[in-house]
Amino acid sequence: MQNGPATSTIHTMADVWDAYRDELEGVEDQVRKNLDSSVTLVNTVAAHILSGGGKRIRPLLLLLCARLCGYSAKDHLILGSLVEYIHTATLLHDDVVDDADLRRGRQTARKVWGNQVSILVGDYLYSKAICQIVGFRNQAINEVLSEACRKMAEGEVLQLYYNGNPQITEFEYRRIVEYKTASLIAASCRIGAIIGNASADQQAALFRFGQHLGIAFQLADDTLDYAANGDRLGKSLGQDLRQGKATLPLLHLLQQCPDADKQMIKDRMETRTLTEADLLRIISLMQEYGSITYAMERAHELVVAANRDLAPFEDSSPKRALTVVADYMVNRDR
Ligand code: IPE
Ligand code: IPE
Ligand code: MG
Ligand code: MG
Repeated sequence: MQNGPATSTIHTMADVWDAYRDELEGVEDQVRKNLDSSVTLVNTVAAHILSGGGKRIRPLLLLLCARLCGYSAKDHLILGSLVEYIHTATLLHDDVVDDADLRRGRQTARKVWGNQVSILVGDYLYSKAICQIVGFRNQAINEVLSEACRKMAEGEVLQLYYNGNPQITEFEYRRIVEYKTASLIAASCRIGAIIGNASADQQAALFRFGQHLGIAFQLADDTLDYAANGDRLGKSLGQDLRQGKATLPLLHLLQQCPDADKQMIKDRMETRTLTEADLLRIISLMQEYGSITYAMERAHELVVAANRDLAPFEDSSPKRALTVVADYMVNRDR
């Protein structure tokens, strides 16, 4: 297999999707093929969320990192689908924890089938991914993925611990983000490096790349929760504050705005009584005090750091594609 299209043809995400279309379709085939439970409800619920149009960022990163490291066989397709299963499991669980009604522009599984089904099908997808992964008999992959799963769970618990608490520090907020989101993204990048037989240094560089990008990705998600077009986002706006989650734009606003507004925000967070009018007021305060800009600037800094992690790799089309994807992870509308 060649190492992809000419570097000069990749400038936008559309170019990336175009250049790696066959491989992404290969991942989709695997996503569908592995939904083979003998319990029909499991397949129905999993298909509902899996066919809802997720961005497939983690499989894309995995396959680009594998190609960057010269990988030319086909295991990256199934591994990409399994990483997507794990991600989907976390979403099924997360939507229960966050009381979410919308995901990928559709009703959440918990809204259609209830919390119990959503949790149990999440468990199924986790276990199914693990069953398939151990079949590769690759200890490095087992280790990186199991550690990511552990960290994601810890991140969600830590977030719950701080729920309703506007005093959370930016340091603790970042720790939550690193655990709950960046760990699986970083693991996806390292798995690409592992199957590409990359050196230990290269594996570590791609892991760091994923960590930087993963944190940036969640900062963008937390900003979109206030600043996106709701239809395009496919999730409900203002959900974080409604659920008592203090994210970076809000932490910035709490430091900048007058005491009366600060008090109003703290009260809504603690009592979980946010109205639509409150949300609009908070969004307008965020614009006024530069909180959206502040959070996006932090996200962009992390993308710069991620691009530096790619420096040891020679120029190639997968490297070019990774830099385009890195930009997209923060400059996106959904
Ligand atoms: C949503 O992940 C959860 C976060 C980590 C922000 P994605 O934004 O990758 O969700 P999909 O897969 O595209 O729906
Ligand atoms: C990401 O956090 C959750 C996971 C890593 C599962 P969010 O709670 O912000 O994700 P969304 O906004 O619901 O997709
Ligand atoms: Mg959520
Ligand atoms: Mg969110």
